[in-house]
Amino acid sequence: MKKGLFITFEGVDGCGKTTQMHLLADYLREQKDCCVVETREPGAVGLGEKIREILLNYDGVVSPQCEAFLFLADRAQNIDVIVNPAIESRKIVLCDRHTDSTVAYQGYGRGIDIEEINELNRIATRHRKPDLTLVFDIDIETAMKRVGQDKDRMEGAGVQFFNSVRNGYLTLAQMEPNRIKVIDASRSIEEVQRDVVELVEALL
Ligand code: TYD
Repeated sequence: MKKGLFITFEGVDGCGKTTQMHLLADYLREQKDCCVVETREPGAVGLGEKIREILLNYDGVVSPQCEAFLFLADRAQNIDVIVNPAIESRKIVLCDRHTDSTVAYQGYGRGIDIEEINELNRIATRHRKPDLTLVFDIDIETAMKRVGQDKDRMEGAGVQFFNSVRNGYLTLAQMEPNRIKVIDASRSIEEVQRDVVELVEALL
């Protein structure tokens, strides 16, 4: 690789993005001999895991602002400690959720001002933007069936919330068509993976 690449995976809970990220990592390592780093938000290795634990399992009151700042604190740590160093050493970084999650969930879902979130995202990421963002789009009924009964704090937010989040992602994709590509995630794992590989190969 002449330069590093930063690819983010987005979509509502149950869309299958995590499975697709791992499949792409295997493909890039085994078929393309690439050096790949996988990370996630919230919950990158180290401090991120502690922040994730609070965000997903704390059972008292969490204000929407506090929730947003915790996601952003986790992001700042992930960018500084994992993403930026890896990109600088010309690796391919795959990140399970990133800035668009905060816009979709805390902005479109919880109703925090989108411009404020954009500004906070710029600060947390030191203005780094993904080279490619894949949004795995799926109807909420199917997604919730995949999540099942055992829901964490975020997953228990309800169908109306998740419809707003989904519409948020689709709006973002319309606003930034070059960076954000929408993939129909209601199909089989193999069909979805073919689309992922095609989009990523165009960048290599
Ligand atoms: P995720 O790791 O995708 O959950 P899972 O373990 O079920 O795959 O994401 C954790 C949750 O956090 C998910 O419900 C989305 C939410 N989230 C936000 O609300 N805002 C954010 O900025 C991020 C990164 C995640």
